[in-house]
Amino acid sequence: MDKLTIRGGRRLDGEVPIGGAKNAVLPVLAASLLTDQVLEVPNAPRLSDVRTMCEVLRELGSGVEFSSRGGVSVQSAQRPASRTGWDLVRKMRGSVCVLGPLLTRTGRAEVSLPGGCVFGVRPIDVHLKGLEALGAQLRIDHGYIIAEAPRSGLVGAELFLGTAFGSSVTGTMNVMMAATLAKGTTVIHGAACEPEVEDLGNCLLAMGARIHGLGSPRIEIEGVTELKGATHAVLPDRIEAGTYLVAGAIAGGRVRTTGCRPQHLSVLTDRFFEAGYAVERGPDWLEVRSDGQRARPTDVTTQPFPGFPTDLQAQWMALMCRAEGVSLITERIYPDRYMHLPELVRLGARIRRQEAVAIVQGTERLSGAHVTASDLRASAALVLAALVAEGETQVHRVYHIDRGYERIEERLVNLGADILRERDEEGP
Ligand code: EPZ
Repeated sequence: MDKLTIRGGRRLDGEVPIGGAKNAVLPVLAASLLTDQVLEVPNAPRLSDVRTMCEVLRELGSGVEFSSRGGVSVQSAQRPASRTGWDLVRKMRGSVCVLGPLLTRTGRAEVSLPGGCVFGVRPIDVHLKGLEALGAQLRIDHGYIIAEAPRSGLVGAELFLGTAFGSSVTGTMNVMMAATLAKGTTVIHGAACEPEVEDLGNCLLAMGARIHGLGSPRIEIEGVTELKGATHAVLPDRIEAGTYLVAGAIAGGRVRTTGCRPQHLSVLTDRFFEAGYAVERGPDWLEVRSDGQRARPTDVTTQPFPGFPTDLQAQWMALMCRAEGVSLITERIYPDRYMHLPELVRLGARIRRQEAVAIVQGTERLSGAHVTASDLRASAALVLAALVAEGETQVHRVYHIDRGYERIEERLVNLGADILRERDEEGP
């Protein structure tokens, strides 16, 4: 196990190239199950979650090849296996995305229930409701979802996929993929509008699917008899970009994220302005300018896209820890997504929680300490806070960070941070 040792107080200046989006590449890799031809993702990021998804696909009989340039090519078997292993799905909820493509391609899928994660219950009722609407028979048996299609295959339907919290990103993805090979037309109302859903749809179009309404809450899919291979470069990772921009605001300096899509970060740009930071934008870059000044207290409420992303909530909280006043952070997607809160308090932050609301009383200084990473974004928030904490911070269990950030310490060192990755002898 590794740890990151960070000495705070350094300005950050420079550029960070943004990689392919984790939350787009995982469903795109799952879409390879829809054809027996090769699907290539030339800009797949080097993340442990990508390797885990490739392990899941190998378990189902797929061939996987990583290219030296970072891309990955996948080709599913003529007759893919039906059952994924509990151990891999337990590690990564995103592997539930194999359910829809496997079911519609082979007529059967046995996928381990993903279980919960550190920030609460992660239901999949929407996934199951959508697949049932397409004619699937579903049951839960010994911790597995057993899904079977009628012998004649899935049948297109008109259905509503919203949840109490809005819509489900991977739920929309699963149903959209299943519908591509169903008989007839499927209309999904209440579809998630996240850019990653639209990106998966663009990949499916390249494979020969017939889809209209991508990026809107109404997606129409006309089933076809088969899909072909394709080469699809996924969209840039808006959460990775947002994370480095917050790093620049916290530490002070000028940080530019290149190869990103500013239009996917409009809400963060707006919040930066509210908090008193200058943001410049170009066609494919964003730059935040900060002289390390404390932020103006700025509230955020997490919402489905285009609202403030729940995946940037922890990072924003790290920035508000030194704001000149009280900020309210309301988590509407995952009300329990506050594992970072007690660890930020260890760094000297003053935060109280009432249900889904965190009340952050900004303070002049944070001080370095031992902290433990928990989930992917909470861990990134601890690194950000450590950049401005006095003295040394050790972030333990950084494997959480490696799930979604490619070589975070190298990118931060290139910007001027004092950060070192080491073996974690003392780690919990
Ligand atoms: C995706 O998860 C992302 N993961 C998450 O990113 C992200 O936080 C989330 O969308 C929200 O944007 C991937 O894309 C791999 P949901 P997903 O289904 O699809 C409720 C990260 O850090 N819900 O959109 O699992 C659910 O409880 C990860 O990169 C149901 O009620 O999220 C939540 O409140 C973390 N029933 C809301 O909907 C369901 O069947 C959104 O969940 C499914 C979800």
